[in-house]
Amino acid sequence: MATEAQTSEARGADPVAGSAVYPIGSRVNERGHLEVGGCDALELAAEFGTPAYVYAEADVRSRARAYVEAFRARTDSFEVVYASKAAPITAVLSLLAGEALGVDVASGGELYLALHAGFDPKRIHMHGNNKTDAELRYAAEAGVGHVILDSFDEIRRAERVFDRRQDVLVRVTPGVEPSTHGFVHTGQVDSKFGFGIAGGLAERAIADVGAARNLRLVGLHAHIGSQILELAPYERAIEALAELASGLALELLNVGGGLGIAYTAADRPPAIDAYVDVKVRGVEALFDPVPRIVIEPGRSLVGNAGITLYTVGTIKEIPGVRTYLAVDGGMSDNLRPMLYGSRYEALIANRADVAPESRVTVAGMHCESGDVDVRDAEIAEPRIGDVLVTPATGAYGYAMANNYNAVPRPPVIFCDEGDARLVVRRETYEDLGSRDVER
Ligand code: LLP
Repeated sequence: MATEAQTSEARGADPVAGSAVYPIGSRVNERGHLEVGGCDALELAAEFGTPAYVYAEADVRSRARAYVEAFRARTDSFEVVYASKAAPITAVLSLLAGEALGVDVASGGELYLALHAGFDPKRIHMHGNNKTDAELRYAAEAGVGHVILDSFDEIRRAERVFDRRQDVLVRVTPGVEPSTHGFVHTGQVDSKFGFGIAGGLAERAIADVGAARNLRLVGLHAHIGSQILELAPYERAIEALAELASGLALELLNVGGGLGIAYTAADRPPAIDAYVDVKVRGVEALFDPVPRIVIEPGRSLVGNAGITLYTVGTIKEIPGVRTYLAVDGGMSDNLRPMLYGSRYEALIANRADVAPESRVTVAGMHCESGDVDVRDAEIAEPRIGDVLVTPATGAYGYAMANNYNAVPRPPVIFCDEGDARLVVRRETYEDLGSRDVER
């Protein structure tokens, strides 16, 4: 008979409980199944089907509180704004509205969802590098608190569209390049976003807004990129902003989002507290008067809270080459591996206690060779019908989901203390034809 020590060695340590990749509170339960938000992943798959997005509500809440507490420990004058593009899910928005966060919207659609979720319009920050007249009008009619202006054309357009004075910020590109994927850089000079400090564009934009009758300049905004795993670039961005702002008495300074998360055990993102510390210290040291500090985290609020459940459908071994394991989703529910070459982990949820012994490539079910979720995943020996989980899919998964190959988009399930509830239903085949006006 195996001793307890031998048994736990054969099973491997709990790969989830201490992991920064999985939602806070995740574990392997007595049945050897992955448990998230107190819910057994196998039971979730059986009840809601796969693929499915699962969020641990308490994880989102705890990160929102970590942001707020990190600020509160340092200043009274701050605002944490959820960048809703990371997961524009009404239930996520309502949860964060309930945590007293503001919200960043980047389109009329995101504005609609934020209002629908119950955000106070005054707490809405409206972005976009090409807002239409209709979107600007919608923002004004809804009473959006802050509109972030992105171009000279937009300054003119806003002045024409708004019929009363609107609080605005000018979006600045501070010329800082963090070491993240080029597609998600936004702060460099060669960018479609905002006004460069270099070349004097930002200065001119500030002057133009100052001269506009219906625009009231309340602050500056800068977002230097996303999935940033270092803190130094933020210091440099704040320095550049301070130089630009000298002589202006800004009410608020929106220093963007961008804090990275752990997609795999190899990623070591800074803690929320350290990230907030850099921003508060930087602004307090360099600005006089010190403006209200606004930050716009997206990924770091929701990314690790979410996992995706799939079912293993086929296993194809190519001797001497690799083994492909195909799941019932792929690039339609998670575009990130294809778009950015992003790395994820994988776990067989129904044998979560078995140490990884196979190396497989987790492929999707779409008609593209590049439709690969996880290359060289180390997992327990897979079997057809297993429930395979990819963690850290809570940000920009649902957000960028699509209907390639006419695949209906997955549902969203919230789990909390062992209770699971459907917050977005699965798309149906009928949904796929629901916008047809002719056939
Ligand atoms: N504020 C602004 C103005 C932004 O453009 C963004 C993200 C954020 C805040 C939030 O950044 P976060 O805290 O989530 O890093 N689809 C890409 C990410 C694109 C991010 C675009 N802007 C991905 O899947 O990695």
